Amino acid sequence: MIPTMRPMPFVEARNLPSHVGIIMDGNGRWAQLRGDARVEGHREGSRAVRRIVRTARRLGLKALTLYAFSEQNWERPEEEVETLMILLRDFLLSERDELLDNGIRLNAIGNLGRLPGIVRAVLDPLRKESASRAEMTLTLALSYGGREEIAAAARELATDVANGKLRPEDVTAEALHGRMPSLRVGDPDLVIRTGGERRISNFLLYGLAYAELHFTDALWPDFSEVDLYEAIASYQRRERRFGLVGKGVVPNAAAAVGVITGRKLRLVG
Ligand code: IPE
Ligand code: IPE
Ligand code: MG
Repeated sequence: MIPTMRPMPFVEARNLPSHVGIIMDGNGRWAQLRGDARVEGHREGSRAVRRIVRTARRLGLKALTLYAFSEQNWERPEEEVETLMILLRDFLLSERDELLDNGIRLNAIGNLGRLPGIVRAVLDPLRKESASRAEMTLTLALSYGGREEIAAAARELATDVANGKLRPEDVTAEALHGRMPSLRVGDPDLVIRTGGERRISNFLLYGLAYAELHFTDALWPDFSEVDLYEAIASYQRRERRFGLVGKGVVPNAAAAVGVITGRKLRLVG
């Protein structure tokens, strides 16, 4: 069978989304389609993470947030959870040098206290070591839930009100935003979900307010550089209005001015 040619998406360097979030879904189905155990899909998924982090850095994205493990995923079978934790540790160990050499700051969000010692022993030092890297922030959402993050932010503000540090009227949308670790790199401009489902599954809820959403049927282990270019090209064809009309509408280009200037990037191959 002759493979169908996919036109190469045209990605404009000036209009890049600054912060891209990805719901990496479909590992289990990828493996099951091959008659393999679900964990094999996670293994291949971890290779896709490596590929996409490299591509994102090469493109010049400022922030990439990857939904790797949700607070709800703890309820999966023990063997699957254990394999995911081992793969996470292995990923951090094998990528350490490349992340540091390429100016990537590694960050993590979520209920990190629930992660096993084998992960924390690698994650914590790498977060510290890479803290001064500024080219791109790679955030792993681990034991993460959007509702849980909102609740934690509300709890912090409530504590400050109870202690007299804040007044009830200081509890504003901006104040909540300021307490969200997932939004320290800015709101996500583009959120991609692989694996064919059209849902958010508790990812970055508060930050999603004006994010552009891109859904693809590609299962995460198959998600390629070209799939990422396609998602970004789709983002670049949209007009972000933020509730405004007429002159108030800022063209999409303005969202990312300063990320890369002057240069046009045509991505091939
Ligand atoms: C995403 O793939 C990885 C995690 C949620 C950890 P899944 O494991 O959800 O794969 P599917 O959706 O069952 O195919
Ligand atoms: C979302 O995928 C979580 C991650 C990608 C880490 P799930 O597979 O857990 O979501 P549902 O169950 O399809 O909503
Ligand atoms: Mg899934």
